[in-house]
Amino acid sequence: MPAEPAAHGAHAARPDEPPAGSAPASAGTEKAAPRRLAQAALRDLPWEIGVAKPDPTVVVDGVTRTFGGLTAVSVDHLEIQRGGITGLIGPNGAGKTTLFNLLTGFDQPDTGTWSFDGRSLGKLSPHQVARLGVVRTFQLTKALSRLTVLQNMLLGAQGQRGESFLRALVPGTWRRQETENTEKAMELLQRFKLDAKSDDFAGILSGGQRKLLEMARALMSDPQVVMLDEPMAGVNPALTQSLLGHVKDLREEGMTVIFVEHDMDVVRDISDWVVVMAAGRIIAEGPPESISQNKAVVDAYLGAHHDAPLTVDDEDRVLAEAEASIAREGHPDQGVISSDRPHPRRTDR
Ligand SMILES: Nc1ncnc2c1ncn2[C@@H]1O[C@H](COP(=O)(O)OP(=O)(O)O)[C@@H](O)[C@H]1O
Ligand SMILES: [Mg+2]
Repeated sequence: MPAEPAAHGAHAARPDEPPAGSAPASAGTEKAAPRRLAQAALRDLPWEIGVAKPDPTVVVDGVTRTFGGLTAVSVDHLEIQRGGITGLIGPNGAGKTTLFNLLTGFDQPDTGTWSFDGRSLGKLSPHQVARLGVVRTFQLTKALSRLTVLQNMLLGAQGQRGESFLRALVPGTWRRQETENTEKAMELLQRFKLDAKSDDFAGILSGGQRKLLEMARALMSDPQVVMLDEPMAGVNPALTQSLLGHVKDLREEGMTVIFVEHDMDVVRDISDWVVVMAAGRIIAEGPPESISQNKAVVDAYLGAHHDAPLTVDDEDRVLAEAEASIAREGHPDQGVISSDRPHPRRTDR
């Protein structure tokens, strides 16, 4: 079972947090207990694809998804350790988002099974999966622009908890539920520093604030597993810190986190375990420090070809990554993968 939620004070500002990449993950300033537990559980595992975890929560077996002739996902076996932060990395088009879609019921695979705490999640809708405790956020945020921030949060509660129609017909129950939901939403908005904006339309939020809103909304259903698809992409550096802090807080509260991220400094900073995908397959998994030494991983990044059409936003991000990658070339101690690369990541397309 997940640990009891942390006391409320745990969500306060985090002045003791070092900026991303500015200090090794072992810096003594971090609240250590859950992180240490997760790391200890994973420490002695072999760095093998499909390795069994001591306490797995999500387990994937033989899941494949093809689009026409293209195999977007082909995962033989994957176990996600409970209570840890698993970083899911891989070049664009590797199949990360498709895997999230499959695991959370937004898409159905051609073959395979997957489970959460021993319960099969096959053929369930996103809303049923969420009700069981597994939620995700989207690479391109799905906040509804014409609803207020608070309304977006309440929608999260409805959609994810699946309030029953019958209950909605009983006014007392409905009102009590709504009051509870509103209180919970405001608490979460406060925690994510969005409470002052609760009556603003979500459409006027910055990209970073939308990412925060989406994370806050995902928490309305008290999930046990949270999958975050590029929560840091397109977010300005000031908010990146805050987002990172929030991701770590989820682990402090006993949640299991799987997140997709491109910045290897961030991945190294917060992951207890890293899973690497390329061309639909898992090509490596291990603790963050193992990944830079893995030839398949370095090759996957160097040989990355981007055959998927990019949106304008994606293009901007890829450009920014390329610039950052070039800038890091002068500082080989930064970036696990980039330090091994003779050339910046290919971004051509
Ligand atoms: N709905 C779809 N229809 C056709 N091809 C898709 C669809 N979704 C994803 N793909 C393809 O599947 C591959 C994996 O995509 P995706 O899961 O988005 O990768 P990632 O999130 O790792 O960048 C890409 O080649 C992409 O073009
Ligand atoms: Mg993606």
